[in-house]
Amino acid sequence: MPQDKVAINLESLGRAAEFSLLDGSQGVPAIDIGSLYKQLGVFTFDPGFMSTASCKSAITYIDGENGILLYRGYPIEQLAKQSSFLEVAYLLMNGELPGDDELLAFTDEINHHAMLHEALRSFFDGFHYDAHPMAMMVGVMGSLSAFYHSELNMEDPEHRRISAMRMLAKVPTIAAACYRHSVGWPFVYPRVDLGYCENFMNMMFSLPSQKFIGKDHYIDPVAVKALNILFILHADHEQNASTSTVRLASSTGANPYACVAAGISALWGPAHGGANEAVLSMLSEIGSVDRIPEFIAKAKDKNDPFRLMGFGHRVYKNFDPRATLIRETCHEVLEKYSDNDDPLFELALALEQYALKDEYFIEKKLYPNVDFYSGIIYKALKIPEEMFTVMFVIARTAGWVSHWLEMMAEPSHRIGRPRQIYTGYEKRDYIPTEER
Ligand code: CMC
Repeated sequence: MPQDKVAINLESLGRAAEFSLLDGSQGVPAIDIGSLYKQLGVFTFDPGFMSTASCKSAITYIDGENGILLYRGYPIEQLAKQSSFLEVAYLLMNGELPGDDELLAFTDEINHHAMLHEALRSFFDGFHYDAHPMAMMVGVMGSLSAFYHSELNMEDPEHRRISAMRMLAKVPTIAAACYRHSVGWPFVYPRVDLGYCENFMNMMFSLPSQKFIGKDHYIDPVAVKALNILFILHADHEQNASTSTVRLASSTGANPYACVAAGISALWGPAHGGANEAVLSMLSEIGSVDRIPEFIAKAKDKNDPFRLMGFGHRVYKNFDPRATLIRETCHEVLEKYSDNDDPLFELALALEQYALKDEYFIEKKLYPNVDFYSGIIYKALKIPEEMFTVMFVIARTAGWVSHWLEMMAEPSHRIGRPRQIYTGYEKRDYIPTEER
């Protein structure tokens, strides 16, 4: 079969060149323009990476038009219904589902690394009680690089694997510590007898006096099941802003804990992982069903910066498969934890229905995304709003470390260094202060 070529002819400059197409195992092909500048002396311009593939990856596949999300080939629907978060983390990191022994060994290793160095606990004292937990997450994850730097040989795959395991194991412990610090409660050590999600709930909510009432009321199976699903849905999403940040930072050979801290920073923004917190603020601001039309009008008004949080996605243009799954979980959790007529959920459903019928949202293909519902579930589980994006961090760490491992294993990876179109002054001479 003849191979398609893309010809670029810069007539005014008298330069022409042909570029080949790169195919993946599935999905949209990409034009290989790596030699464009060398051959034609021009750059490509694509702010926001609307049409640019930044790497090759075998971890996650998304077909945005058809609402398909696969982790290592497995559909997200099957994983969310049948798997566990740790099994999915293993799959993302290693490429295959684990056998029983492999999962046991993986879980043991996670348990082994879940504790924090005692000296790290004192880092929290530097944060005021009202510091945002995401600020603490960035700081504490980054500070792991101070504990595990000199002994780390980035050339050694086993050293890299252990770093990845440490991050995955410690992230719920750090997250829970951020919350406990903010409320002034003592930190809780991880327990080896509890699963990943149960352990997190225990570290978040257990009280020293609890043993006297003789029940683990803070580890409810409905809550654990919901967390497990949410963590699976958020575990990876190919080259999103935070994962690309981790990859770009890692391309310099920087310490992986520092690179993941950079990813946490990128996730914090309301256009990305911060959306779940923003959805709840928005619902509080709207307040009641009768004010929905007013806020929909604001979202459509080009002169108003307000956007409907939890709506729209760069890749999904028909539906977000994660949103469909999470909507079901949302009902289950609310049935258990809130009154059936929870006003917040009613408001969310009414807003969703209103927006789905609106011409503007239909025309621009704006549908509820995963974070439209995740905040409502977290709120029902009594997780404070400021912790919502931290919950996303716990799950996405599995994706970040998998991409880091994949990239570091590529023999030819290069430093990421985009070019620019300069729009500033041409060369001009310095003017002394008295002459300005
Ligand atoms: N409310 C109102 N209008 C919107 C919205 C929204 N939520 N999202 C996009 N639009 C409009 C936007 O104004 C633009 O209109 P026009 O073509 O007239 O300029 C058009 O739709 C396309 O939007 P865009 O900003 O060019 O699209 P994007 O792909 O750059 O942005 C997005 C995607 C997710 C940042 C954006 O839809 C958004 O800001 N949504 C709200 C925040 C949110 O829910 N983020 C969570 C994403 S899912 C979690 C994750 O994976 O991180």
